[in-house]
Amino acid sequence: MIDLVIPDKAHDESRQGEALVLDPVVGKNNGRKLYIESYGCAMNFSDSEIVASILSEQGFETTSDYTSADVIFINTCSIRENAETRVRNRLKEFKAAKTSRPGMVVGVLGCMAERLKAKFLEEEKLVDVVVGPDAYRDLPNLIDQVDSGQKAVNVLLSREETYADISPVRLNSNGINAFVSIMRGCDNMCSFCVVPFTRGRERSRDPFSIVQEATDLFNSGYREVTLLGQNVDSYKWQNDDESQKVNFANLLERVALINPELRIRFSTSHPKDITDEVLYTMAKYDNICKYIHLPVQSGNTRVLDLMNRTYTRDWYINRIDAIRRIMPDCAISTDIITGFCTETDEEHKETVSMMEYVQYDFAYMFMYSERPGTLAAKRYADDIPEPVKAARLTEIVALQQKYSLVRLQAQIGKVQRVLIEGFSKKSKNDYAGRTDQNAMMVFPVDERFKPGMYVNVIAERSTSATLMGHIID
Ligand code: SAH
Ligand code: SF4
Ligand code: F3S
Repeated sequence: MIDLVIPDKAHDESRQGEALVLDPVVGKNNGRKLYIESYGCAMNFSDSEIVASILSEQGFETTSDYTSADVIFINTCSIRENAETRVRNRLKEFKAAKTSRPGMVVGVLGCMAERLKAKFLEEEKLVDVVVGPDAYRDLPNLIDQVDSGQKAVNVLLSREETYADISPVRLNSNGINAFVSIMRGCDNMCSFCVVPFTRGRERSRDPFSIVQEATDLFNSGYREVTLLGQNVDSYKWQNDDESQKVNFANLLERVALINPELRIRFSTSHPKDITDEVLYTMAKYDNICKYIHLPVQSGNTRVLDLMNRTYTRDWYINRIDAIRRIMPDCAISTDIITGFCTETDEEHKETVSMMEYVQYDFAYMFMYSERPGTLAAKRYADDIPEPVKAARLTEIVALQQKYSLVRLQAQIGKVQRVLIEGFSKKSKNDYAGRTDQNAMMVFPVDERFKPGMYVNVIAERSTSATLMGHIID
């Protein structure tokens, strides 16, 4: 399997398997250590912060060393088969640790837990507890149950749970960028996708708690928030007497008004729902970053119909044209699946021509992976041979590399406002930060400026993933 992933905070699956560490909670220590590892999308990483918060209330301290942990949690993803395989392999590695530390609790959280439910306990003997994404408040009870010698499962999905009142413990944080979850679940039922089954019905978090969380983050020094949802454009909240209604454009505006120095990003937008109102709100506020992740999946209308994406090629092009008209400088990225059921060469060529039309700044590209229980698995044969899926993927990966380079090179000679996020991965002599359009910029350290500050940087060179430049006053 070749899944291409280009680094980007909200979608970066290369972060998969990262150990998340939080500082010990003083005064409440129960003497037990928690190790938590996250896979999958930004929502899962954000959920791990909620889990850490719930358990830190119980006095758990976190550790980055699973061999010394009392509780190991693995927060899992089911989106493609290889995501699940990775988790199964990791569980094998935990086996030795558990054998040498009797009493250690091993828990599976997240989407795979929800998909497989109690079956997990039969399939993976070392697992003690299985917890779905809406049941994290129950974790202290479930751990108690395991302590008393039983296995424990809670995979109830909820129509209301948004964890709105839980203030997440920021894990592995640079103190500058944070995720803020604005909704949970998904009602879209794209035929290839397991998310509606693992995350349940769509629900929006109340806007006051969102604005409060973003304000608190700003006040503690954070300078960028990414609002998270599977389909942020369908964010919808109203109070009990319906006198107040808030849609995504309204929410963006409320968060933008917190402070002009707080940058706002969001993910993911759905082509069927992204409105001109959202685009005009983005254009109106300088602190809403000019970057939209707009997954196309396929450039062919028949395939889009089989995928149940509920838009056509023409509709998608109309949305791209609206973005270009309202925000000519806006960066656009996408997700593409190759080799979906019955996709012909001609139809694949329409995906290629869509890429040529849009010239995406980034793309996340995958071979179709059939997921049990989805509409596509029930209705259509997974009939495109793996080598064909792979050849189509290789073709679009090469094309995207070309456009990523073209898009970055168009920035050369221009001055960009960059939020310094820290030192570059390669050298302590360089800072790294992202431009408004989400391009990574690397530039020599200037002692007058520190991480968390904005600087103007002129772009001088680029690779297909990074701009290089220097600060100008
Ligand atoms: N909510 C987002 C996407 C969530 S999943 C949206 O609607 O766009 C992230 C990406 O994984 C999807 O956009 C899709 O490109 C890919 N994906 C989802 N299910 C897949 C499957 N069964 N096989 C291959 N790729 C898949
Ligand atoms: Fe999956 Fe579609 Fe929902 Fe995205 S919008 S999470 S692809 S069902
Ligand atoms: Fe995210 Fe994977 Fe679940 S992409 S919603 S963790 S299936």
